[in-house]
Amino acid sequence: MYILVTGGAGYIGSHTVVELINHGYKVVIADNLYNSSFDAVARIEFIVKQHVPFFNVDIRDKEQLSKIFETYEISSVIHFAALKAVGESTKIPLKYYDNNVNGTIKLLEVMDQYNVKNIVFSSSATVYGDVTRFGDNSMIPIPEHCPNDPTNPYGKTKYVIENILHDVYNSDNKWKTAILRYFNPIGAHPSGLIGEDPLGIPQNLLPYLAQVAIGRRDKLSIFGNDYNSHDGTPIRDYIHVIDLAKGHIAALEYLHNLQNDQGLFREWNLGSGKGSTVFDVYHAFCKVVGRELPHEVVGRRDGDVLDLTANPKRANEELKWKTHLTIDDACKDLWKWTVDNPSGYNIDNYSWKALSANDLSNRSHTIKVDDTFKVSIMNLGATIQNVTYKDAPVALGFVTEQEYKNQSFYIGATVGRYANRISEAEKLKLSVNENGNTLHGGKFGFDKKDFLGPVVKRNKKENSTTLEFYLLDPHLENGFPGDLGTLVKYTIASGSIEIEYESELLGKADETFLNLTNHSYWNISTGSSIDGTKIKMATNKALEVDSKSLLPTGKIVDREVTGFAKGSAGIDTCFVLEQQSVQSVDTRSNELQTVLEATHPDSKVKLVVQTTEPSFQLYTADHLDVPGKFGPRGGFCVESGRYIDAINQESWKKSVILPKGETYGSKTKYAFESV
Ligand code: NAD
Ligand code: UFG
Repeated sequence: MYILVTGGAGYIGSHTVVELINHGYKVVIADNLYNSSFDAVARIEFIVKQHVPFFNVDIRDKEQLSKIFETYEISSVIHFAALKAVGESTKIPLKYYDNNVNGTIKLLEVMDQYNVKNIVFSSSATVYGDVTRFGDNSMIPIPEHCPNDPTNPYGKTKYVIENILHDVYNSDNKWKTAILRYFNPIGAHPSGLIGEDPLGIPQNLLPYLAQVAIGRRDKLSIFGNDYNSHDGTPIRDYIHVIDLAKGHIAALEYLHNLQNDQGLFREWNLGSGKGSTVFDVYHAFCKVVGRELPHEVVGRRDGDVLDLTANPKRANEELKWKTHLTIDDACKDLWKWTVDNPSGYNIDNYSWKALSANDLSNRSHTIKVDDTFKVSIMNLGATIQNVTYKDAPVALGFVTEQEYKNQSFYIGATVGRYANRISEAEKLKLSVNENGNTLHGGKFGFDKKDFLGPVVKRNKKENSTTLEFYLLDPHLENGFPGDLGTLVKYTIASGSIEIEYESELLGKADETFLNLTNHSYWNISTGSSIDGTKIKMATNKALEVDSKSLLPTGKIVDREVTGFAKGSAGIDTCFVLEQQSVQSVDTRSNELQTVLEATHPDSKVKLVVQTTEPSFQLYTADHLDVPGKFGPRGGFCVESGRYIDAINQESWKKSVILPKGETYGSKTKYAFESV
């Protein structure tokens, strides 16, 4: 059974989805991305290390909404989807009523149709209105029985929806309804991967202050210091978004624990019970940032009230929920999110497109570094799909996902769990090919897998962009032991792509073995063949292989390559850099060493390959054959990695065995320049 989370790509929704999954729930997200980005969903998946079904639907579209209920068995709905800007709601009230109220009615109709009658609804402290109207402080901190009197259209939509939910419950006592009235949610996920990403000028205190701290805004305006508080600024009940997310789990569990036929309509305040002033929060955030942030006290903001502090006793007692995190925690997490993502999910020079209409989890991601260099990478196989240098393609790639699925040449793909050949694969209980070997990880290798992510980040100082993909390859996939987690990180800078691999054994075995590489076919000529490419190598030492089995004999021999002349014999050879140890499973502490330079006299383009790895397979693709697309000698591969079949050679073995608790790693860089 799944929990449907409407608005699950948004600020509070995304954090709640993570908590739900961490608590063992299965989740489907429905969001029209009106105020959010699919990157938030990709990052949720990255945090929880699993795919989360996502539907790009407007909740007012009953037909689309029904498809979710048809596809997944939904037990309960957590309903976040709404427009939420107080100021904006006074300008376009009809849009607010239509989206929030009408959207909820449609959702309830579909739920009713599919007999799903558990709902947790995102309400707001704003339904209480100005509680100082009672004069005698009898309603501060605010209890749930405080009379409602919202003062703006946004708040009124919440008030109306609460009433609709109440009427629905009154009409059919099987409905189990939890109304959660949030106070002021702040902070971000401690990983720095998800957080609040307001469109335009932030209206709320902390998002605004964070943008001042990162240099996007000049100074914070403090709206009035003449209130009746210890420093004259208004009091709010700020709550860490992770605590708030956990409140939803508590409410959901409360509903699930009710007898089957026992309905419920009940409101709970989610707040800490502790009020803080604007200056309290300002100082807490400045402390985390490490400096005083520019600010100015200005006049009061229309509609602001002195004190909105929750009385959370009901949630504490009934839901067994209370806040654990502090304003300092929230400031720390918000600052990490801001530093790691100075423009939120929006990354300069990055764009993506979906490769299939209904599934955004497999996309093609393009980084256009500058006018000379553009790279596209897709989720399938964390594959390098396109590289253009000075408007000319320099790597082979296809357009559609199907083209990748139809071929067996590993074009641009990440190769794993074990690049190159493993002899006597049967003995190792691996899936075996017709020669009795395992090649490039077997039938369901990494090249066939949808990687999660990417997490895309911009490093302004270095003028580079990183894309991180993640794959959890299960125990015994293709026969390889252990659950293996692999991070593939691409750093794209002007003219260069650096690839970093990092793997960890996550369980079900004490050790495993692996060897990762990238299988791009480079072509820096002006035509469809690599003929004429000149090569300069850092080594002429190569592994001798048996001509039949293509497996190493254990001997190292001399082999000289200076280029791919027309009509010359093909090359498929593992060259070794004897100065690099073959004892290390993580080579990332090695310097990146230049191992090969390729130039073509017609294009005057040079490719420089550097790696921390002890060897690389140079392959001239003499067997490449994709009719109508690519033929023999259409590209060449420089596959950095560990020695071929190292797992079966006593003296090389250590470099491919990954014990639990250790990390596998490597780095390789491909750089283009004009000569
Ligand atoms: P958010 O804007 O980040 O998230 C709302 C999500 O709903 C967005 O991803 C948006 O794209 C989606 N959405 C909006 N209309 C939709 C529609 N018609 N169909 C499908 N998706 C739609 O906001 P948030 O801060 O995460 O707020 C979540 C909920 O909590 C909202 O209901 C909001 O009113 C409520 N709330 C928020 C706060 C706060 O301070 N953030 C306080 C109290 C209550
Ligand atoms: N503030 C400033 N400067 C700013 C922004 C805010 O001084 O630039 C002050 C406000 O005057 C207020 C406090 O910071 O005293 C908090 O303001 P926010 O706008 O962050 O939050 P509000 O309490 O006004 O409203 C928020 C949500 C509402 C929700 C309410 C529930 O925006 O949707 O919390 O308590 F209903």
